[in-house]
Amino acid sequence: MRVMIAGSSGLIGTSLVPHLRHTGHEVLRLVRRAPRAPDERGWDPPAGWLQSGALDGVDAVVNLCGVGIGDRRWSGARKQAIRDSRVEPTEVLAAAVAAHGIPTMVNASGISYYGDTGDREVDETAPLGAGFLAEVCRDWEAATAAAQPASRVVRLRSGAVLSPSGGLLGRLRPLFSLALGGRLGSGRQYLPWISLDDEVGAIAFLLEHPEVTGPVNLVAPEQVTNARFTEELGRAVNRPTPFPVPAVALRAVLGEAADELALTGPRAAPAVLQRHGFPYRHATLAEALSAATTR
Ligand SMILES: NC(=O)c1ccc[n+]([C@@H]2O[C@H](COP(=O)([O-])OP(=O)(O)OC[C@H]3O[C@@H](n4cnc5c(N)ncnc54)[C@H](OP(=O)(O)O)[C@@H]3O)[C@@H](O)[C@H]2O)c1
Repeated sequence: MRVMIAGSSGLIGTSLVPHLRHTGHEVLRLVRRAPRAPDERGWDPPAGWLQSGALDGVDAVVNLCGVGIGDRRWSGARKQAIRDSRVEPTEVLAAAVAAHGIPTMVNASGISYYGDTGDREVDETAPLGAGFLAEVCRDWEAATAAAQPASRVVRLRSGAVLSPSGGLLGRLRPLFSLALGGRLGSGRQYLPWISLDDEVGAIAFLLEHPEVTGPVNLVAPEQVTNARFTEELGRAVNRPTPFPVPAVALRAVLGEAADELALTGPRAAPAVLQRHGFPYRHATLAEALSAATTR
């Protein structure tokens, strides 16, 4: 399969590109600067520009674009950037997918689509939740509309991707290594997660399974609360986690993002992946943390 990836320089893309190549696919990359390698094609999402011929012969487009969600305090401008850097590129790509008759579009989204669900388990049939990130996910997913119904559109509702470097663990590990890790707030909120190997494996699986379409929760089958996650991470790095971080302190540091990213979360189940028999490499958090902290 000839696969075009946008947002390929990030945490997921830098693993997805070699994985797809290793499994026999041809991978091209859309870059937001002048192309300088034979596999690169140029584009400028805010300008709605795509290099002529960039999508010739492409069987699937994978879109992983977007500025970081948890790496800065949310100002009004940052919130706008979080939304625009997802919606605009998706609109440009969906229109191009339609214009070129490309069979498949796989588009990133997030598990925040469901908002905070407390103890209630949700699968892909659950409705949109409340909050800024849920609204971003709604608009991000809606931006794929031009590609449908002619193309198959898969929406990746990913949980926190656990990788040896970067992402959630990249931020937490230094604190935990100093024994400064602790549950956040009550610790009862769910923290949907997936290992980087499974995130990448699931995207490849979805590219190769034309019968799957629509939203897909990219989360592991083991559902854990923040308190359980904290305990397991402390165990994985061999450090105690005695000090809970009070909600009020988190809000002081992170502002509004504290509530949506750290103090609440959906209890999400991977119903579609399990129904289609996706073979997880790390189905339990202990396995995923062991893989991510011993590399
Ligand atoms: N990692 C997670 O835990 C997680 C969880 C849920 C959802 N997701 C979503 O999955 C996608 C990929 O995640 P990731 O962790 O690989 O993200 P990442 O490391 O932040 O990379 C995202 C990529 O988006 C592109 N990008 C950055 N700013 C942009 C802008 N202003 N306009 C258009 N593109 C821009 C960049 O690629 P280029 O420079 O190559 O264009 C960047 O490498 C993101 O949309 C993210 O929100 C990730």
